[in-house]
Amino acid sequence: HRTAAVIPAAGRGVRLGPGAPKALRALGGTPMLIHAVRAMAASRAVSLVVVVAPPDGAPGVKNLLDEHALPERTDYLVVPGGETRQESVRRGVEALPGDITAVLVHDAARPLVPVETVDAVVEAVHAGAPAVVPGLPLADTVKEVEPRGKGEPEPVVATPERSLLRAVQTPQGFDREILQRAHGTVAAVGEGATDCAGMVERLGAPVVIVPGHEEAFKVTRPLDLVLAEAVLARRRA
Ligand code: C5P
Repeated sequence: HRTAAVIPAAGRGVRLGPGAPKALRALGGTPMLIHAVRAMAASRAVSLVVVVAPPDGAPGVKNLLDEHALPERTDYLVVPGGETRQESVRRGVEALPGDITAVLVHDAARPLVPVETVDAVVEAVHAGAPAVVPGLPLADTVKEVEPRGKGEPEPVVATPERSLLRAVQTPQGFDREILQRAHGTVAAVGEGATDCAGMVERLGAPVVIVPGHEEAFKVTRPLDLVLAEAVLARRRA
């Protein structure tokens, strides 16, 4: 198997507050994207990292990768992204060379995923699983609601049994062919697949969950940045 990681990093990060695109914001003095690239390249199985940059930001992201020390056994590519995460991932997958057989898709917004988690996903794909997702049990009970206007009370429709739910993370790992088929199939693409594995599920292909890691959380809101800085400080101590 030859394995590549695609990192969608074209989001604006509106929920994080005003400032640079989310992937370019600093964590411990280094852009989140660089942490994410290093996290993928830390796995010896990953021979290529494709970064999907903001549509007008590819040259800047290329410079950023050149400026930072990255493992030399890994190749790096930068391609421009699209309007949605799904579109950005599709562009990253289209840029993969023909000899890549396994693909990880990893959010730039999960900069601190440990290499053990990356390796566990890669191993499951290499062992023959078409789609592999790291996930963790939920701390909160989850309710399905009838959405209403902002601040209005929302009627509860259902309460799924918490023990059956998993909060999923990235990197999600795929057999290259199945990921490409998912991105090329209208039924799978549809509206609102918020992760690639969801698109594979719509194809009817099996998706499995392996244990995720609490440090693979997504930096979305300002509080997540505080947590990420604390995790990094603990690692460096
Ligand atoms: O917004 P959210 O946190 O779900 O974004 C997840 C990942 O998808 C981020 O790394 C973000 O940069 C990326 N993304 C993208 N292109 C978009 C929107 C989001 O690459 N148009």
